[in-house]
Amino acid sequence: QAFDLVIRNARIATASDCFEADIAVRDGRIVQLGLALPPGARELDAAHRWVTPGGVDAHCHLDQPMEAPVRMADDFDSGTRAAACGGTTTVIPFAAQQKGQSLLAAVQDYHHRAEGRAHVDHAFHLIVSDPTPQVLNEELPRLIAEGYTSFKIYMTYDDLKLDDGQILDVLEVARRHDAMAMIHAENADCIEWLSKRLEASGRTAPRFHAHARPLLVEREATHRAIALSELVDVPIMIVHVSGREAVEQIRWARAQGLNVFAETCPQYLFLTAEDLGLDDNYLGARCVCSPPPRNRANQDVIWRGLADGLFTIFSSDHAPFSYEGTQGKKPGGEEVAFRHIPNGIPGIETRLPLLYSKGVLEGRITINRFVELTSTNPAKAYGLHPRKGTIAVGADADLVVWDESPRTIANTQLHHAVDYTPYEGMELQAWPALTLAGGDVVWDGRQFHPRPGAGRFLRRGRPSLLPKRSAAA
Ligand code: URP
Ligand code: ZN
Ligand code: ZN
Ligand code: ZN
Repeated sequence: QAFDLVIRNARIATASDCFEADIAVRDGRIVQLGLALPPGARELDAAHRWVTPGGVDAHCHLDQPMEAPVRMADDFDSGTRAAACGGTTTVIPFAAQQKGQSLLAAVQDYHHRAEGRAHVDHAFHLIVSDPTPQVLNEELPRLIAEGYTSFKIYMTYDDLKLDDGQILDVLEVARRHDAMAMIHAENADCIEWLSKRLEASGRTAPRFHAHARPLLVEREATHRAIALSELVDVPIMIVHVSGREAVEQIRWARAQGLNVFAETCPQYLFLTAEDLGLDDNYLGARCVCSPPPRNRANQDVIWRGLADGLFTIFSSDHAPFSYEGTQGKKPGGEEVAFRHIPNGIPGIETRLPLLYSKGVLEGRITINRFVELTSTNPAKAYGLHPRKGTIAVGADADLVVWDESPRTIANTQLHHAVDYTPYEGMELQAWPALTLAGGDVVWDGRQFHPRPGAGRFLRRGRPSLLPKRSAAA
């Protein structure tokens, strides 16, 4: 037989097109699209349901080293299992440099964590927290050349943050070596000043996390990040944009013709600050993330940005901390003051079904825009396109067939190792009926089909959202 697999009657959506075709797969890749293709060794019927490229989750945290007793609940096994069951076939988590650590050592350690465990393909972003001359002049250029073509820098968190001069130095490396810089934009000193005052007056419950990080904290840092990237003349990706005021800064930057890209996440569409608690209840610790969720009106601002092209990428920012023993309660059962709650919420499995249900099926975005935000653009921004992010001859056979029927989100049905989902009880209208990774069925709508170690590490090329800088520039 010419083909390992033929998927019949697929109603295919890419970032640009919708068309009906059969999809033929050989050696894990799409080798033909057409009508009435010859038989394959295996046949699947999409039954005229929508078929989209597998999701690329370009912002998720898996098995990142934490200071004990804090630990991430998901490693590459459970994290990529959950991804696959939610339609995501490529993940890009972070190899994080600790201050004082060499970046190469951080990457090596992270490879050991992934080895033999991943069920889907994966790449690593770098996190640069200590930009020594060694890192700037040798390690970072070498790693970029070896296929780690993006890195995240932080403007907040004591153990990660860079000052403006350091950010300029790192952005210059991104410019020189054609890498994508991702920026976490929140003003660290404002957060520290507010947090100390809240703590001094006994306001330590989870909800005060949001009080310590008002919109202006994100707005100021977003503006500064834009200015720094303008000074160096390099594109940036502002990650997990949460608020109206940051959105306004990005709109301004775009109007100036600056190459400022932006990412947002499900928590800013479906949660509000009230989910951190209305009183001093500690259950709200489950929704503590940074930047924090805002209010209802703000959710509409984020939806508008998804619909009108402001946002380039929709990621999960999956940060898996269990409530018991980590995020809400310490191992002994003692409640954690907001300043010490590990930031981040799980969402690697629910990202696509939420946006498909509430975005596509409720008429807020087209299915093409859905594909662009969740798969094509992340693949382009981080040097994986066209192998990832589209349905085309030569692309990897990473596919999702959508089942449009009602379903309620319940943590007992999810595949991560976190003990809660912030979206418990939400009604969805769709979920993947089938996820294929490299032509293998990894999720059949009911069951996960493990393939530990079959997920490959991807060396990435240069970002392709923009044309290559000409030699003269
Ligand atoms: O609160 C969040 N987003 N935690 C994850 C780490 C990060 O800053 O993305
Ligand atoms: Zn090894
Ligand atoms: Zn961040
Ligand atoms: Zn993150």
